[in-house]
Amino acid sequence: MQCACLRWAVSLKQVFESDALETHFRRAAQAVQPEEWDRIKLFKFRDDALSSLIGRLMLRQATKKITGRPWSEITFGRTERGKPYLLSPSGFNFGINVSHQGDYVVLSSSCTPRVGVDVMCIERDKTNKTADEYITFMQRSYSKDELRVMRMQPTDTMKLTYFYRFWCLKESIIKATGVGIHDDLAKLDFRMDPNDRYRPGCLLSSTKLMEGDRVKSEWVFEESFLDQLHCVAVCREAIPSIPTCRLSQESINSLHFAKVNLEMLLNDCEVLNRIDGCGAATEWLSFFDKPRKPW
Ligand SMILES: CC(C)(COP(=O)(O)OP(=O)(O)OC[C@H]1O[C@@H](n2cnc3c(N)ncnc32)[C@H](O)[C@@H]1OP(=O)(O)O)[C@@H](O)C(=O)NCCC(=O)NCCS
Repeated sequence: MQCACLRWAVSLKQVFESDALETHFRRAAQAVQPEEWDRIKLFKFRDDALSSLIGRLMLRQATKKITGRPWSEITFGRTERGKPYLLSPSGFNFGINVSHQGDYVVLSSSCTPRVGVDVMCIERDKTNKTADEYITFMQRSYSKDELRVMRMQPTDTMKLTYFYRFWCLKESIIKATGVGIHDDLAKLDFRMDPNDRYRPGCLLSSTKLMEGDRVKSEWVFEESFLDQLHCVAVCREAIPSIPTCRLSQESINSLHFAKVNLEMLLNDCEVLNRIDGCGAATEWLSFFDKPRKPW
């Protein structure tokens, strides 16, 4: 098997602005497993339905590339806690995960079985709290050291950027292990290198997860600042020596997110969920009837 490490990002804004959205949407609705489509239909907002649909296409297109198997031979299940995993074809042991928030849907896959990804939009608190008030409001989820780092930042924007960086890091390990809800998020204690410059387009892999004074070196964290407003964290197991893995070779220890679009995600797709009546025309209309998210 070739290297399974992929990093993909889709901008929802670009998808919404595309002239081909209706055509792509109608193909996509029929290119996912029926139970996936049944779940997607239930979203109240158009943005959430589309994000979830894109996430499912990403999982399948990435799996197709990694395994070399056709679209229709790929089946996903979900764990009790909701984490999608590959049911078939069997015999593959790579990890894969998606996240959607703000303007992005992102995918991360890994040669190691456990990987988690989380994207967050750095938004000001909607209740008009200052950054300090918001951090205090949420402080139960953060360690003492994380709170100190956030609070020492000179501006509200920087405080919130650190707030969301830590948030993504915590979510990324929760998603890698698949636990879903963690009872004590403050125990997930992250240390960032103060010399790193976190700026749009950057990719850092120096942040460590601590257990007391010990670095939990079995996990690697990659942080990407996709644009001025979106941070992403990927958590994966430290790669031992996998000869085909790009990340276990020489100096390459992390991967940048590649921007992909719906056309690419639908490449060589097949019908898994046949919708009678003019190729999902009704489904498109009810999707278009849903309200856009007001925030
Ligand atoms: C499961 C959980 C981690 C998902 O996080 P989220 O931010 O709501 O959603 P994301 O956009 O990142 O990811 C959603 C995708 O992750 C996948 N997913 C669902 N459950 C998952 C789980 N238990 N583990 C890993 N991935 C999961 C699915 O593909 C899902 O997409 P879908 O719903 O469209 O099928 C989250 O629901 C949760 O339980 N969080 C609690 C932890 C918390 O309070 N964090 C605050 C940090 S300070």
